[in-house]
Amino acid sequence: MERTYVMIKPDGVQRGLVGEILAVFEKKGLKIVGLKMLRITPELAERHYGEHKGKPFYAPLVEYITSGPVVAMVLEGKDAVRTVREMMGATNPLQAAPGTIRATYGMDIGRNVIHGSDSPASAEREIGIFFRPEELVDYGRALDCWIYE
Ligand code: RTP
Ligand code: MG
Repeated sequence: MERTYVMIKPDGVQRGLVGEILAVFEKKGLKIVGLKMLRITPELAERHYGEHKGKPFYAPLVEYITSGPVVAMVLEGKDAVRTVREMMGATNPLQAAPGTIRATYGMDIGRNVIHGSDSPASAEREIGIFFRPEELVDYGRALDCWIYE
């Protein structure tokens, strides 16, 4: 099983979409193994989105991601990184495939509702930024045998 870092961005929280988006992942069969709300500081934003430093959208991106609380989570499942990226859809919600989270809930690339790690290496790095090891919970689910063969 693989773990990925997922975050409902400030617009998703402000618009009251936390429950609906969590439900999308839960219904899919992904397992929530870490979950919390926090306010991202400029320092945290720089650690998380450091790869984009120097790009024209970096300053507005930091402003956006620090503008209100986010809901941070670690999801576990088969091929979780790729699965969540596909469920989220393209970065620009107007180009995201119908049915994806960004297509369903978003209109603008700078308000695209959700983040998900783009590779297993990014997932490991991002989980380490936002969660201490003891904040991640190992548990089994009675329904697992109905989700995986
Ligand atoms: P994320 O990291 O948030 O999951 O998004 P992503 O992988 O789909 O896209 P990425 O290239 O990593 O960009 C990070 C976030 O920066 C904003 N962005 N704006 N105006 C622009 O051209 C532009 N490009 C990216 C988006 O909010 C994007 O999610
Ligand atoms: Mg990214």
